[in-house]
Amino acid sequence: MARVQSGEKKQADQLREQIEQANYAFYALDAPQISDAQYDRLFRELQQLESDYPALVTHDSPTQRVGSAPLPGFESVQHATPMLSLNNAFDEDEIVAFDRRIRETLDADEEIEYAVEPKFDGLAVSLSYESGALVLGATRGDGYAGEDVTTNLRTIRAIPLRLPKGAPKTLEVRGEVLMLRRDFEKLNEEQAARGEKIFANPRNAAAGSLRQLDSRITATRRLAFFAYGLGNVAGGRVPDDTHSRQLEYLQSMMFPVANQRDVVSGVSGLFEYYQNIGEQRTSLPYDIDGVVYKVNSLRAQRELGFVSRAPRFALAHKFPAQEEITEVLDIDV
Ligand code: IVH
Repeated sequence: MARVQSGEKKQADQLREQIEQANYAFYALDAPQISDAQYDRLFRELQQLESDYPALVTHDSPTQRVGSAPLPGFESVQHATPMLSLNNAFDEDEIVAFDRRIRETLDADEEIEYAVEPKFDGLAVSLSYESGALVLGATRGDGYAGEDVTTNLRTIRAIPLRLPKGAPKTLEVRGEVLMLRRDFEKLNEEQAARGEKIFANPRNAAAGSLRQLDSRITATRRLAFFAYGLGNVAGGRVPDDTHSRQLEYLQSMMFPVANQRDVVSGVSGLFEYYQNIGEQRTSLPYDIDGVVYKVNSLRAQRELGFVSRAPRFALAHKFPAQEEITEVLDIDV
């Protein structure tokens, strides 16, 4: 076996950094910096180097995102903090009542500041990092226990395998796995050409891809990920004043965070955001089924607390189902 020289190690580190940076630009910033061909060239160069010098292979190398032999089943994992769900609202009266309840509970005279985000139509997952390395990825399951899908999540290029320096010793990130519409269309074309199952929508395609016991299949599906919050944190500091600052922090840790997020004031700010995102809905690269409103102050969030299985400080304002707003333009017989 060839002995590793420091030059080769440096080259491998550099290639890994370039590849992860390209993933980040593509998935998080939606602004690819290099072409697919350039990406493949970097990837092949790294693969060659690791095959010449196997001692250079690391657990978190981008070349390890290819999946591994099928598992007999998924292990069950208990969530350290439950992954709860959101209460849904469908009309303006419910939003007005939500804001009123919050102002009353907080005894607030002024308008409430809300962090507002798209509601991704995918699958909730929790990602646990220890000393900067991804060690566990789980589905939401029933909110208290989910399935260990770490090997599958490792294949998703939008999910960092290693965090930048300065990350807390324990960091849990929560977010949504989904499939971009263009990747969904492409997958269905390929499935049809092979005479295999056609997926009804990007959400089903993402779910079917994530729950593969053979992670090598997951690796061939282009899945995306967006972070929307933090779970357990220990052994380090993260912003603890507002939700919007936590999202910025997540972005600085290389996680994709929705570009369409905003901070608004009072009910009128919520309505304006709902309207605005509703207008952008069909041109977004992924499916959303509404928007989410969260009281921005984390101190106020703690004061508001939870009722049964949902937070009092957050609400999902749903859009009408996509089918209902489809306009039939023409029918050819
Ligand atoms: S926050 C305490 N933010 O909606 C709940 N959830 O019914 C914290 N979802 O299973 C969740 N987009 O997967 C949050 N921007 C967003 C979201 C979001 C989609 C999903 C989430 C959860 C469901 C809640």
